[in-house]
Amino acid sequence: MAKIITLANQKGGVGKTTTAINLAASLAVLEKKVLLIDADPQANATSGLGFDLNTIKTSIYECVIDEINPKDIALKTEVEGLDLIPSHIDLVGAEIEMLSMPNREKIFKQALEKVQNDYDFILIDCSPSLGLLVVNALTASDSVIIPVQTEYFALEGLGKLLNTIKIIQSRLNPSLDIEGFLLTMYDTRLNLSNQVVEEVRKHFDTMVFDTIIQRNVKLSEAPSYGKPVLLHDVTSKGSENYLNLARELLQRNQMTEISEEEKIIN
Ligand SMILES: Nc1ncnc2c1ncn2[C@@H]1O[C@H](COP(=O)(O)OP(=O)(O)O)[C@@H](O)[C@H]1O
Ligand SMILES: [Mg+2]
Repeated sequence: MAKIITLANQKGGVGKTTTAINLAASLAVLEKKVLLIDADPQANATSGLGFDLNTIKTSIYECVIDEINPKDIALKTEVEGLDLIPSHIDLVGAEIEMLSMPNREKIFKQALEKVQNDYDFILIDCSPSLGLLVVNALTASDSVIIPVQTEYFALEGLGKLLNTIKIIQSRLNPSLDIEGFLLTMYDTRLNLSNQVVEEVRKHFDTMVFDTIIQRNVKLSEAPSYGKPVLLHDVTSKGSENYLNLARELLQRNQMTEISEEEKIIN
């Protein structure tokens, strides 16, 4: 059964979509079956994976409003093992329509139950808000990854998100975990970057991923080619960082294959 992970931070431009695309692609390259859900009406993950937004006919909107099975609309991507449920600007309207629906916080959960057996991971890319779509994503999820930009004093803004997570844990989804805080856009030359890393580690300790995502131009270029960085430049720092993140995630979840050597030792 798939582990469902939401990428959330109500601040924009912190690396949610970059992480959603490249972590999903890296997990797929490590032979996991992955579904990426683009739950942001801006549809950056959809275009970043090479889909023309004008040709998208069915999106997550139809799964929410018309109860279409996500399986029926999942698009295959260029990366083997990675499927996408695209987004559409209509999703702005869905958030309003959902307000009057029964169980309005659990609509994603009901939709994803239909595909949970087909994947190892389902990643949900969210918009920078704490609106009903994000509440739906968190209610459907096993855990949340919180990207934190290291070029900015980030802790203040995190309070609101952590509070929302607490409310969801107490009212809607008691099993929601924080998978980890992910430090992004790290620049070794910047004092501020180092200070933020120190501050976030001091505060959240083992909840912070060991892997840090460095600022890398290949990561910002790749979406304009409609590719994850692994297909844009496999030798780049960005590819290396996101593959390491995928490995760390698998290790934390004890989902790595046991090597032949380890089998002999055990
Ligand atoms: N590690 C990185 N190195 C360089 N550019 C990055 C990196 N991470 C994100 N970016 C760029 O920063 C911008 C914001 O990132 P994005 O992932 O879209 O943030 P969010 O989804 O949180 O709004 C995008 O233009 C993206 O290409
Ligand atoms: Mg985004």
